[in-house]
Amino acid sequence: MRTVFIAGTDTGVGKTVVAGAVASALSLRGRRVGVMKPISCGGLEDARHLAASAGCAEPIELINPIALEHPLSPNVAARLERRRIDLKPVAAAACQFARKGYDTLIVEGCGGLLVPVRRGVYVVDLIRELGAETVLVSRSGLGAINHTLLSIEALERRRIRPAGVIYNRLGAGELTIPERTNPEVVFECSGVRSLGVFPYLKSCTARCAGRAALKHIDLTRWL
Ligand SMILES: Nc1ncnc2c1ncn2[C@@H]1O[C@H](COP(=O)(O)OP(=O)(O)OP(=O)(O)O)[C@@H](O)[C@H]1O
Ligand SMILES: [Mg+2]
Repeated sequence: MRTVFIAGTDTGVGKTVVAGAVASALSLRGRRVGVMKPISCGGLEDARHLAASAGCAEPIELINPIALEHPLSPNVAARLERRRIDLKPVAAAACQFARKGYDTLIVEGCGGLLVPVRRGVYVVDLIRELGAETVLVSRSGLGAINHTLLSIEALERRRIRPAGVIYNRLGAGELTIPERTNPEVVFECSGVRSLGVFPYLKSCTARCAGRAALKHIDLTRWL
């Protein structure tokens, strides 16, 4: 099973939207796609969106093994619940997907890469725990260069080379100058290539998001 970790440069950049679209695209192409939101803070919406996008009918506890109540960073949310987050159940859940015969597992991170999970453990550490490939989702417009390069540095410091960046559009209309030039600038600075610019999609079904991913994102590596 190939595990693809959809990391984000920040919270709210579109990890759920893009991960759902990629999961749907791969399942439209006949892959058996499992999904995980290993740690949720403040609700199960992301896990449910991913499951619906992939057509994955596994129990929510398998898709989202660590569900924290408060919409806060996991370390703070866990402290409020007097819990200590252990990543072992996350790796065990991923193994279950492999055992059940899924060929691809799409995993959504939570927040950005250096969001603390507990003292000395960060969201980025999930990538190794899961033996995953990494795709970075960044917003497409102004500000993306800095956030994307910082995230790439955090990955490379841990010897993780991302497969590429998906630049996600958070608004409609013509591409702005930053949206047109950011992918190339980030490539020049880091050598990390763009997998594409994901369009702004208003009220779109899983199928339509999947088709958009097939059209705009280079998924050849996973097809
Ligand atoms: N390409 C897009 N087209 C239309 N709306 C989008 C797109 N990308 C993101 N959005 C909207 O922007 C908001 C944030 O997106 P999303 O929930 O996917 O971010 P996230 O990175 O998963 O956030 P979190 O850190 O909370 O998990 C949502 O309301 C989502 O519907
Ligand atoms: Mg999300």
